[in-house]
Amino acid sequence: MIRILVVEDNAAMREMLASIIAEKGHEVDTAADVGAAMALLKKNDYAVIVSDLHLPGIDGLSFLKKVRDLQLPFILLTAYGSIEKAVQAIKEGAWDFIAKPVDPEYLLLMIDKALATTHIARENLVLREVLQSEMGRTAIIGSSRELLHEAEKVRQVAQTQTTVLLRGESGTGKELFARAIHTLSPRRDHPFITINSASIPENLLENELFGHEKGSYTGAHMRQVGKLELAQGGTFFFDEIGDFPASLQGKILRLLEERSITRLGGGRPIAIDVRFILATNQDLEKAVAEKRFRQDLYYRITSFPVELPPLRERRGDIVLLADHFVRRLALEVRKREFSLSAAAREKLLGYHWPGNVRELQNTIERAVIIGQGPVIQAEEIILPARAFPVQESLSLNGSLKAVSSRAQKFAEKAKIAQVLEETSFNRTRAAAALEVSYKTLLDKIKEYGLAPKD
Ligand SMILES: Nc1ncnc2c1ncn2[C@@H]1O[C@H](COP(=O)(O)OP(=O)(O)OP(=O)(O)O)[C@@H](O)[C@H]1O
Ligand SMILES: [Mg+2]
Repeated sequence: MIRILVVEDNAAMREMLASIIAEKGHEVDTAADVGAAMALLKKNDYAVIVSDLHLPGIDGLSFLKKVRDLQLPFILLTAYGSIEKAVQAIKEGAWDFIAKPVDPEYLLLMIDKALATTHIARENLVLREVLQSEMGRTAIIGSSRELLHEAEKVRQVAQTQTTVLLRGESGTGKELFARAIHTLSPRRDHPFITINSASIPENLLENELFGHEKGSYTGAHMRQVGKLELAQGGTFFFDEIGDFPASLQGKILRLLEERSITRLGGGRPIAIDVRFILATNQDLEKAVAEKRFRQDLYYRITSFPVELPPLRERRGDIVLLADHFVRRLALEVRKREFSLSAAAREKLLGYHWPGNVRELQNTIERAVIIGQGPVIQAEEIILPARAFPVQESLSLNGSLKAVSSRAQKFAEKAKIAQVLEETSFNRTRAAAALEVSYKTLLDKIKEYGLAPKD
């Protein structure tokens, strides 16, 4: 059942809105002010919020900002003459506004439209074409500017033969993006072959890549074709390139340059027609400096880097991804639909996700398995207990500007976490100690996902 939240201070108006919506068959809860609305949002799961602009205390616009991270469609009711505010509301992320007096038909139409788009909007497919061709198995979800920017690069480079390097922390979607590049490329009907240096013993890696001729070494009874040959016509994905042993790095460089191989113990070079994609979660610059990674190979593979941002730096994607995983996993595991309570969403938003999307997916899977359903409660979201894990490493990937901005945020977050700990999370005292306004502190707490130890 679809549940809608109406926030309106005028009692007669509130009742009228509620009955219009209820007649349509939706469940309605009402609140007379933002405080009451927030309390309801903590308890229940709403599909749409309808709120008056003028409310006692906190007004509709500030309410909108408070709940924006929940990604619910927000319809603002405005009196004639406050069009400017309405326009501002749209800029702030309101779904739409309706001028008072409210026409019941129009209100219902707006709600219907909001409901129809949320399913699609919440999917927020970054690369829609991938979905169509792969039937959803490789859907990339997100709406953050950071991710969309990288997705756009991927869409363009996919058409070419360019070697792509995917960089990002563990669990940020490097393999997903590698598959997307393949799917969007003219090679999509040919194989996508992966080699992961971490999963194969070093002495077998070369054989696995290049194959061998019969009798090339003791025990080589038969000719074996390597993975590179299997990829002919398609895409070859070197996963964790930073972990390939030094002994193989020279051979990989030659492969990328000459696009041919010779099997172990075999004479004739074989031309290889594949597109190369590589991925790493390592700091390659550091690896080069420490002579663990060949500099010439580094230059050869970094001509087209795609940087997948950590999940904590694109907080808007947390809810989108969570909703997506809830829907998919509940159908898979429980054979019915689940959703997330508002408090569960808040909890997800307040965590820093060191394991990125993979960790989020695992967390949701656990919640779906243990949850009573159909609404997943905050208690069913199980997260590691550490309160302020400040040991996230400061990566030196990317441009100078990107690194500086990351360093600034890192220091800011550490400082705020420290002061909050010292003041037992007393925000007023912490704001004073940090010499920032209370509001600034609240914004920062939210931005960095800081939470008291419970
Ligand atoms: N934007 C996204 N939308 C939907 N699912 C995602 C997204 N990003 C990652 N995932 C999912 O999260 C999981 C981890 O992604 P993936 O394996 O691609 O990460 P990775 O960067 O290769 O991690 P690692 O470095 O640990 O190998 C996968 O199940 C993937 O489908
Ligand atoms: Mg991977």
